Amino acid sequence: MSTNTVDNTRKVTTRRLAEMKQRGEKISMLTSYDYSMAKIVDAAGIDVILVGDSASNVMAGNVTTLPITLDQMIYHAKSVMKGVSRALVVVDLPFGTYQGNSKEALASAIRIMKESHAEAVKMEGGSEIRESIERILCAGIPVMGHLGLTPQSINKFGTYNVRARQEKEANKLIEDAHLLEDIGCFAIVLEKIPSELAARVAKELTIPVIGIGAGGGVDGQVLVIHDMLGINQDFSPKFLRRYADLATVMTEGVQNYIADVKSGDFPSVAESY
Ligand code: KIV
Repeated sequence: MSTNTVDNTRKVTTRRLAEMKQRGEKISMLTSYDYSMAKIVDAAGIDVILVGDSASNVMAGNVTTLPITLDQMIYHAKSVMKGVSRALVVVDLPFGTYQGNSKEALASAIRIMKESHAEAVKMEGGSEIRESIERILCAGIPVMGHLGLTPQSINKFGTYNVRARQEKEANKLIEDAHLLEDIGCFAIVLEKIPSELAARVAKELTIPVIGIGAGGGVDGQVLVIHDMLGINQDFSPKFLRRYADLATVMTEGVQNYIADVKSGDFPSVAESY
C-alpha cells in the first residue's frame, strides 16, 4: 500500500491523526457513551470517539456538564471501549478532577486509562491548567486540549454564546493554543468561536485542530451524537447539522409497539414458543 493510500481498517492512533493533518485529510469525531452506540459509530468508520462529559446532559439529563463524576465517566468509557476496534477513544476529564491540583489531575487521568483502557483524555482550558496537563503528559497519557467555549466554565461565562469575538480573548486563545501544542498535546478542540480565528489557529499549529461551531477551516469536526442524529431535539444551535430524525423514528416504533400490544397483534403465533 502506498503511503498516500488511506487504510480504513487500520487502528487510529494519535500519530495517525498527525499524519492525517499533514496530508490534509479531515478528521471525523463524534461522541458515544455506551457499548451499542459506540459499536455502530466505530463500524461506520469514525476516526475519533469522544466519551464526552456531555453525557451529563444527554445521558443523565443534567442542565450542565458539571455534575458528572469520574466514576460515571469511567463507567461510560468502559462501555464504549468494549464496542470499539478502530477509532481512537478520548475521554473527558470531568469538572473538579484536574483544575485544582496537578497530582489529583494525574490520579484522575490514570484511573481513566487503567480502568477503562481508553487511549487519551481531553481537558478544558489553557495556561490555567498547564501544570496538570504537563504532569499527565509526563506519565505518557496523550492529552487533547479544549479551548473557546468550555462548558465546564459555564458559570464563569454566564452564557453559551460564541467566544473570543473580542481581540483580547482571541489573542489569549491563540496563545493558549500554541502553549498546548508546545507542551505536547496531540490535538485540540475549538468550540464555538469565529471561523476566521479557528482557521488561523489550525494554520499556525502543526497538531490537528478539531472544531465544533468553529467553521470549516479546521482539521476536523466533532458533534454530539444525540444532537446530530436527532435523538435530542431540545438543542438547535446554528452549527448543528441533523443527519437523522431518530426521535421521530423511535416515537413511531414505540407507538406501533404499544398499539400492537393493546390490540393483541403482538406476539403472533410465529413469535411464540
Ligand atoms: O463533552 C463533549 O461532548 C464535548 C464536545 C462538545 C467537544 O466536549
